[in-house]
Amino acid sequence: MPAAGSGQRFGPERPKQYTPLAGRTVIEWALHPFLADPRCAQLVVALAAGDEHFNRLSTTDDPRLQRVTGGAQRCDSVLAALESIAAADEEWVLVHDAARPCVTRAEIDALLDAAAADATGALLAQPLADTLKRGDAAGRVIDTPPREALWRRQTPQAFRRGPLRAARRAARAAQRTPTDEAQAMEWQGQPVRLVPGSATNLKITEAGDLALAAAVLAQRGVSS
Ligand code: CTP
Ligand code: MG
Repeated sequence: MPAAGSGQRFGPERPKQYTPLAGRTVIEWALHPFLADPRCAQLVVALAAGDEHFNRLSTTDDPRLQRVTGGAQRCDSVLAALESIAAADEEWVLVHDAARPCVTRAEIDALLDAAAADATGALLAQPLADTLKRGDAAGRVIDTPPREALWRRQTPQAFRRGPLRAARRAARAAQRTPTDEAQAMEWQGQPVRLVPGSATNLKITEAGDLALAAAVLAQRGVSS
């Protein structure tokens, strides 16, 4: 779980993953389905150097939970976590953003089913529903690109530990910065399966996203 970002677009008060949400914090909601899942043998959280928030959380005493120091980019944080995982090369690793608090067990199951049926791995993603407009610097429409075949990528993303680590190391050696694990695998020529997810698996990016996440959790009737 990459959790070493500072949340520049969210706001300066504290990193967004530590913002209160429905009685917990964003990162506790993000961790919850994995902590509750006996298939999950180990959880590695990549934290910013000097992070003072994580150890104050109430759910961080699970013995499967391990902390590492993240890096300058999200992909560096993921690599730091990958390097410290004790799993065998063929074990599944799921990478999930600390800023994505509403993923469900059903979505994780769908991801794992698809990944297991595929040679490489899979990611949750959502087919684009909106009509797209490309704009120029002056804010005028250039054209309307077709949205067919376009997806919004989400997390978790699931890959076997060995190939994922090899792909990330190869990207680092080539001084390339993948935006996510799927891109690192794409660069290795590995076909990655898209698994249809839901809009409710949203990422907290800007302050307004917090109200959406709270509404999703409230609608499920969850309580802390
Ligand atoms: N992340 C990380 N290490 C980094 C940057 C990001 O572990 N160097 C994590 C974030 O903590 C978050 C996830 O990657 O859980 C997705 O990144 P993003 O939503 O971009 O979060 P931030 O980078 O914190 O936000 P911003 O880009 O607005 O600064
Ligand atoms: Mg970022």
